[in-house]
Parts: sequence; structure tokens; C-alpha cells
Amino acid sequence: MLVKNDSIAYEDDHLYPEVGLLNDPNGLVYFKGKYHVFYQWNPKGCTHKYKEWGHFISDDLQTWQRVEPALRPSMPDLDSAGIYSGTALVKDDRLYLFYTGNVRNAQGQSVKSTQMWAVSDDGIHFEKLGQLFPHPDGFTKDVRDPMVWQGKNGHYFLILGAQHDDQVGDIIIHESVDLTEWTFRGSLLGDQLRDIRGYMLECPDLIEVDGKQVLMFSPQGLPADLMQHRFQNIHNTGYVVGRFDEEKAYFEVQGDFYEVDDGFEFYAPQSMLAPNNRKIMWGWVGMMPPKREAEVPTIAKQNWVHTLSLPRELHLNAEHKLVQQPIAEILDPKPLTNFEDSLQPGQYTIDMSADWTLKLGRNAELKKRGSILHFERRQWESGEIGHRQMQGKVDQLLLMVDHDVIEIYTQDGLNVMTGRWFG
Ligand code: FRU
Repeated sequence: MLVKNDSIAYEDDHLYPEVGLLNDPNGLVYFKGKYHVFYQWNPKGCTHKYKEWGHFISDDLQTWQRVEPALRPSMPDLDSAGIYSGTALVKDDRLYLFYTGNVRNAQGQSVKSTQMWAVSDDGIHFEKLGQLFPHPDGFTKDVRDPMVWQGKNGHYFLILGAQHDDQVGDIIIHESVDLTEWTFRGSLLGDQLRDIRGYMLECPDLIEVDGKQVLMFSPQGLPADLMQHRFQNIHNTGYVVGRFDEEKAYFEVQGDFYEVDDGFEFYAPQSMLAPNNRKIMWGWVGMMPPKREAEVPTIAKQNWVHTLSLPRELHLNAEHKLVQQPIAEILDPKPLTNFEDSLQPGQYTIDMSADWTLKLGRNAELKKRGSILHFERRQWESGEIGHRQMQGKVDQLLLMVDHDVIEIYTQDGLNVMTGRWFG
């Protein structure tokens, strides 16, 4: 991949901000012959104090162009401190964006969230349409990240990450026949998944993959399960397969909650419905403890931080588990032959017959020991070694290596680990 119009083409393959901080992918959509990737962007600094929607477009998912930001804060009591995450919907040849407006007080604390929308005819210039509906009763100000789709019955559904007044996470759902009048339908999950809601749940995404419905979301504050190597990041992202009932506006969970990615950094993914019914997902490669975030070396060197993941095509396997592969448009791996030197940017397959150790710069390495793959990294603020390992056995491997990001795919994408590595 190549980002055009860019004087600091540091990352080869991962979309990154030219300046400032990038986080969640937003509004992923194919509209009038172009792929659009919007993203959470603070162009004013490498912090989370302010957000607008940055914007990349592409004709082919290989070459991307930065265009002007799609949405910036402008409405004093609604979105003055941030255009937070959301999604896109195409209706009658127009592109609608749904997002959360954030407002901060004089001390800089977030005090209010408002669900909002905007529209465009050309996919570049957007007109804000204001607030969608009132804040629901029984929830704190932490209600955000609208995801909208049209149901089979023609109605529109809008889901949001939410925090109940008693500090428990949930996904709530609204319904509309015309996108303008919305009815609050309550919790999408009812009493299900009580143990993995955390204190807040962010960025829900409900999509259809190979005929089944898949609900992805990012719960905050799940306790780490060190024995099972689960939930080891500060916040984590997972999915459940199930069935959305349009009448009841309810998602019936039919399996377990699995993490989308077992690595150090992967969060708030969203998927695009691309031509030929392809489902392509991007995630944010950057969720990390705030103290660590401030020390990422690109900040001092080039005044930007974080990337999106590679675009990954999604399928379900025979057991109804999610499999992810880098899209065919960018995939061109070669067998790795040099195990001596630090891995160079590129795409590799690896012979898995013997054990090996591979260096990633001075501070990280991959180790194959028997059928287990370990990813170890010196955590840069403390010097302690962080460890992640693939869930399940590994007898086949694809490495997508960029200047400071690695994505590791095994078992044809059944397990994936993503992480940053530095110097
Ligand atoms: C997830 C998130 C969203 C929010 C956005 C703000 O990373 O916290 O819930 O809308 O980032 O940038």
C-alpha cells in the first residue's frame, strides 16, 4: 500500500496520521466507486484531548489518498470537543455519517455525549444534521459510537456502546423507519454476556459474515485471565456469533466470546461491506496504557502516533469461528530464509518444521517452541518483558511486517496477533 501526497512515508503498509494521534477506524464504506476510511484524529497533538474525522480514500484498496477531514468540532453544546467514533450508511445515493459529539468542561473533562449525523453527496464534503435523539435515561454520559444498518424489514437499527448508571457496560439499540424519528428499544443483549461487559463497552459492530451474524465490541476493564492468556491488554476486543431478531431488536448469542486478536495492540475494529459482499475489517493498532502511549518513539521522531491495522477480509470457518486474512489486493508473501538478522519490513511465510527465534529490532522477538508461538516485547517504559502467545497450536504462519507493526496470522487466519515493535 502507498499513501499518496505524503512527505513522511514512514509506514509502508499501515494507514497512519501525517501528524498527531490516530485511533479508531470510522465510517468504513464503499461509496460511488471509492473506498472510504475515516478515522479518529487529533491533528493538534499526540493526545486524546480533541478529535475530528480524518479521511483516506482509495480506488483499489492498495493506494490511499489523504483528503480533508470530513467532520470537525463546530457546534458549541453538541460536538465542540470531539467528533467521536461512528459509522456510515448509504441511502438514496447519499452518504450519511453517524457519530458521537463530545463536549468538555473548563477543566477538560468530558461531560456530555450526543448522537449526531451528517450527510454528503460527493463523499468529501459533509453537512451536519444535528442531534438524532435524546440521551437515554438510566445511563451515564458514556454512551457513544453509533453503528447503523438497514434491516431486512427495511427499518434502520442503530446500536451504541453504553454505561448503565451502576457502571456496567451494555449495547443499546434504537430503531427508525426513516433515519429521522428514532425509538429507543433497550438493551441489544438483555441478560446475556453479563461477565464480559466490563464497566463500559465501546464500538459495537454487528455484521453478517457468510450467512451468520457476528457482533464485535470492545469491553473496558475486563480482568486479565493469565492462565488462559486472555484479556491481557488494558482493554480488549472480541466477538460473538448469533442471530439478530428484528422484531425484538435483540441479539441472541449462540456461542462463546472470543478475542479478535491475541497480540499487544488491537482495538475498536469496524468492518466495511465492500463489492461482491466482501466484509473487510480494520482495527486500531494503538490501545495501550496512557503512560506507555506518550513514549512511543514516533512521537519524538516525527510527531505522530498509532496506525490502523491492515485491511482483513472476514469469513467464518466450519465451527463458526472468525477467520481473518489480509485482503488479496495486498497479499504477496515470500518464504523467509534469513533467521539471523532482524526481520525487515515485508511479508513472509515460514517453514514450521523446526523451532526458531526471530528478532524484531533490539526489543522484540518471535519464538516458535513446539506448536506454540510466543511474541515477546520489552515494554518500553519499564524494561519488563511483555509476553503474548497464540491461542491454539500453530503449524502454519504468515507474517506481515511493517516498520514498527507486525501482524501474525496462523491457521489461515483463525488466530492473529498484532503488536508494535520499536528499534
Ligand atoms: C475507542 C473510543 C471510542 C470513542 C473514541 C474517541 O477507542 O474511546 O469509544 O468514540 O475512541 O476517540
